[in-house]
Amino acid sequence: MFKWANSLISPNSKRSTTFARKITSPNQKIRCLFKITRGFISYEVYHEDIKIIKDSKLGFLFYGEKPLGANLQVVRTYANRHAETITMPNGDTKYIDNHYNEVTFHLAETKPPRRHLRLTFRIFDDAVAFRYQLLPYNHITHLSVKAELTEFNIDQASTVWSIPAYQPDRYEYNYEKSSLATLNHSVHTPLTIKTPSGPYLSIHEAALYDYGAMNLAQRSAHLFSDITPLSDGTKAHIKLPFVTPWRLIMIAENAAKLTKNHTMYALNPAPAGDFSWVKTLKFLGIWWAMYVGEYTWAPGENHGATTKHAIEYIDAAVKLGLQGLLIEGWNNGWEGDWLTNGATTNFTAEMPDFDLEKVANYATAQHIELVGHHETVGFIDNYEKQLESALNFYAKNHIHYLKTGYSGAKMTIGGRQEYHHSQIGVNHYQKVLELAAKKHICLDVHEPIKSTGIERTYPNLLTREGARGQEYESGAIKPPHACILPYTRLLAGGMDYTPGIFDLDNPKKPVYTTITRQLAYFITIYSGMTMAADRPKLYAKYPKLFEFIRHVPTDFELSVPLQGEIGEFFIIARKDRASNNWYVGGVTNECARTIRLPLDFLEPDRKYHACIYQDAPTAHYRTNKFAHEIIKKTVRSTDTLEIYLAPGGGFAIEIRNG
Ligand code: NOJ
Repeated sequence: MFKWANSLISPNSKRSTTFARKITSPNQKIRCLFKITRGFISYEVYHEDIKIIKDSKLGFLFYGEKPLGANLQVVRTYANRHAETITMPNGDTKYIDNHYNEVTFHLAETKPPRRHLRLTFRIFDDAVAFRYQLLPYNHITHLSVKAELTEFNIDQASTVWSIPAYQPDRYEYNYEKSSLATLNHSVHTPLTIKTPSGPYLSIHEAALYDYGAMNLAQRSAHLFSDITPLSDGTKAHIKLPFVTPWRLIMIAENAAKLTKNHTMYALNPAPAGDFSWVKTLKFLGIWWAMYVGEYTWAPGENHGATTKHAIEYIDAAVKLGLQGLLIEGWNNGWEGDWLTNGATTNFTAEMPDFDLEKVANYATAQHIELVGHHETVGFIDNYEKQLESALNFYAKNHIHYLKTGYSGAKMTIGGRQEYHHSQIGVNHYQKVLELAAKKHICLDVHEPIKSTGIERTYPNLLTREGARGQEYESGAIKPPHACILPYTRLLAGGMDYTPGIFDLDNPKKPVYTTITRQLAYFITIYSGMTMAADRPKLYAKYPKLFEFIRHVPTDFELSVPLQGEIGEFFIIARKDRASNNWYVGGVTNECARTIRLPLDFLEPDRKYHACIYQDAPTAHYRTNKFAHEIIKKTVRSTDTLEIYLAPGGGFAIEIRNG
């Protein structure tokens, strides 16, 4: 461990501040100040000398114990500099910079009960993170947290993009743009903020284990951590010593740069074992057919998950050049209104018209990976008692991918109703993830706990839903939504948005986008498991557009956000891991725009072949969804493309080298 010899700062001029220490980012642009004032601990954050987080208190309330955060003094400090490049086994970026300056303050109370506490700050070039370590004292080894008192004191004139917490549809809401001052309810993280002084921030957390998720709420014009309660009102029951998740503040000069922040992963430990078996996947699904009423989840004459349909879809996946197939509705539990069946759903019993072994053997012979499905409806008691055998059933049938689902406003667990993002919920998701890892099964979690970067440690967690996805189309999604996600939800990792719907005018479920925007989603919304979500017959109708879906990778070496503004537009280029090819995607809100796209991210002196899929000048997300152009040209890094995006539209480009 490296000690900073000269980093003690000049004491704060205010006489009441008895301790102050500055920690700077490696590039010196971000500064964090940790202070003790009249025994109270707090911090401030500066970006290029602008104070972006004003004096913000830290501490805890416990049941039956005194508050922690006052009467504190520093006993020791430990400083450390760290510079490392992390290699991610899969994802949207292969190499992540884990470069920070760190100081741990060992604090002790000056009055009884004289508890000790450690606070660690890590300052990166694009983020500030800190976490608490609560230590045992006076033979006390367990505590019940009443409140975590972490504040984020940010200019109330800032603009925020938020989704409400504690709502029945969990994270699946439209983002609301408002001023921070008017935020009057608890919201989920990441909470993205545009400060009046310029920088963009997003407050989130990393490495959430055995604790309630952090929401954010306002009190006395201060944003503070609101830990999700358990049904007994406690925020968390913890065993000492206990390390909290990292409190993370991502910082960027502009909106596009914010989307490049990978600190969340850097704050999580290296993989917990050998995950070389994990591979990303692009797959077809017996899925949208249910949304448009062609098939049903429930048994009956239009039942989707039959052996016959599964074999047809496997053949289709082979023909389309996809690698997998999701099958929903094959097990007992989908009869009638499936939302009410969670207590009795059976995860190993097939419906009479479905033979898993036969389908799995056929899939294996065709080199197609099946994606299994467990819809728990949040009945965790029922799920956990079957978990081991349900995963074994898949493993035995060579199924390496699983979509899980937790529909319902709350989870039924231990006979009680708990929030999905409570400590108990967090522990449940973790249990499934770890057991799935043991069985070599990759996960796509719907109605999940938000990502806090734990997929660095468990790379078999390939994707999540955790936001309003395409299934909300037909009115509940407006064009700005996909132009907000990259700056908000997607800061917390990949999302299963279910892109690639071509049946845009289906009377049962019209989708309000242009057709080339459906291609853009494969790039603008990263997902390690990506479903080409429409039916094979739709892809057969538009073979030229499908070319892009066939080629687009699910594993990238590099992602370069190019341009954008929150809620207006977003453009990103990604380089394939397996080749020198690049893929560019862009989406806009209701406004048409023509963007100039310099190709300076390409390697100089190389010739590339670009295939551009863009909206036609007459295209419109409501009235003319299918009008598009496919343009092929030779390009170099010195070229600049001009691309038109129609209202509610988008574009995708494949740039092949060689
Ligand atoms: C909601 C999920 O988001 C969706 O993808 C799934 O098909 C249904 N639940 C049924 O499990």
